[in-house]
Amino acid sequence: MAIHSEDIQMNIYQCGDEAARLLPVSFNEWEKRAKEILAAAPFGYVYGAAGAGDTNRSNIEAFQKYRIRPRICCDISKCNLSVSLFDKKIPVPFLLAPIGVNTILHPDGELAPAKAAAKSGVPYVLSNVSSVPMEKVAEAMGDGVRWFQLYPPKDRDLTKSFLQRAEAAGFSAVVVTVDSTLLGWRETDLQNAYLPFLTGQGMGNYFSDPVFCSKLKEAPDKNTKDAALKALEEGNNTCFTWKELEFIREQTRLPLLIKGITHPDDAIMALEHGVDGIIVSNHGGRQLDGAVATLDSLSSICESIQGKIPILMDSGVRRGADILKAIALGATAVLIGRPYAYALAVAGEVGVQEVINHLIAETELQLAISGRGSIQDVDQSLVIKVM
Ligand code: GLV
Repeated sequence: MAIHSEDIQMNIYQCGDEAARLLPVSFNEWEKRAKEILAAAPFGYVYGAAGAGDTNRSNIEAFQKYRIRPRICCDISKCNLSVSLFDKKIPVPFLLAPIGVNTILHPDGELAPAKAAAKSGVPYVLSNVSSVPMEKVAEAMGDGVRWFQLYPPKDRDLTKSFLQRAEAAGFSAVVVTVDSTLLGWRETDLQNAYLPFLTGQGMGNYFSDPVFCSKLKEAPDKNTKDAALKALEEGNNTCFTWKELEFIREQTRLPLLIKGITHPDDAIMALEHGVDGIIVSNHGGRQLDGAVATLDSLSSICESIQGKIPILMDSGVRRGADILKAIALGATAVLIGRPYAYALAVAGEVGVQEVINHLIAETELQLAISGRGSIQDVDQSLVIKVM
């Protein structure tokens, strides 16, 4: 692995005052800086959550219910963080989660996290509602591992078109998000009357799609708002059921993951409908206020799936300890969202790279100090429930 946690630490320490600190280290500091840099509405869009924010908070609190119980006197001179997903080895047990409309955070939009991820070997999950079209993101990533996230459109031809484009552009898995066929009640955005899609941001994949554009009365550059409203209408796919998932399954030979599951019965249904992986997620608390925290859902879902397909999780992962706890409770890997979004706002690609590097370093140290030489050695015995 290219990252060596001790080197990262020592580089920082040896820079002394000079480095103290140009870029933040902690999640809270990235968040604070992003708040200083961004206007209230785009910051609120990332920071905000559904309703009272109870689920957003409980995602974080769920990690506090577990403590790591280290073993001592183990040989930790070598540290292996790599995991295998769909026959590909990835160097670290995390991916960058699909976050759309990145141009509200930085002019480079999704190109910045895509490039940073590719340089580190971390898979990047491109959001369906990216501001930059998927082909441009793919080009910027070279051989970097990329997955494409789909908000399943109502229109089956558009669904097919997105999937074909993703395959042609070298995306190696498809993530269907199923928790957002309606937009959650987001008080911060409502207060700011802010939905960035309405000005054409986050529309990179739609506005470049021949099938989508063929259904418009006027081209997106002539009437951006109507085109954006049509795209949002496609995404408000309240008729989406398991039958539509079957349709998607038939359209692609890529590994198919379903994202937005928190109930073990839904996990079984997903497995029966041919998915290759599950992402336990509540959309970072942005969709259903009061919903169960993802870490609290993880064990029951792992029990119901019995290792037949990989289970990933997101929502509330902020640091190395969280990653270890999620893996101890059965996740193969986790997805990181807000931490890289704030870093993108503060420092573009360099910021995202910094967050990735620090997260790798922290996870590696956490693993070693807990007495494990490999992430494969992490199981339930690593943690105890304390509340
Ligand atoms: C879209 O996916 C959002 O959470 O804003």
